[in-house]
Amino acid sequence: MKTPPIDMLNAAKAILPNAYAPYSHFSVAACIRTEDGKLFSGCNVENAAYPLTLCAEANAIGTLYSQGYQTVAEILVLVADSQICPPCGACRQRLLECASANTRIHLCTMNGDYESYTLSELLPVAFGPKNLEKTR
Ligand code: THU
Repeated sequence: MKTPPIDMLNAAKAILPNAYAPYSHFSVAACIRTEDGKLFSGCNVENAAYPLTLCAEANAIGTLYSQGYQTVAEILVLVADSQICPPCGACRQRLLECASANTRIHLCTMNGDYESYTLSELLPVAFGPKNLEKTR
């Protein structure tokens, strides 16, 4: 795919100004599409106690669950920076819980740069729900 899904990009653009990033000055917005086509977005929210910072993907995933959904069909991450923002390790793990190996992760900048990966490309040899199946 050469261009990102425009509806997801526009949804992320709409909330990027809401990112609260007074410490890093690195604003991020994420937009999730569900299997039935709903879009849920989130932006990063920082805190003076730095480790409490919430990533854009984490907030979008929180909204997904809050609205009664549990599955990500695809996700787009938009950054105000000039380089794409690959999801941090913790957010890759968060995505594994609600996405699958082939789920597309679209990475965009406001300058029009675009890269796309599957979750398994970003999180190979993952520890996930399947590792706990025998314990249930
Ligand atoms: N950030 C995200 O929102 N998503 C990521 O996947 C990577 C990092 C945010 C967290 C923090 O507010 C800022 O970017 C700098 O780390």
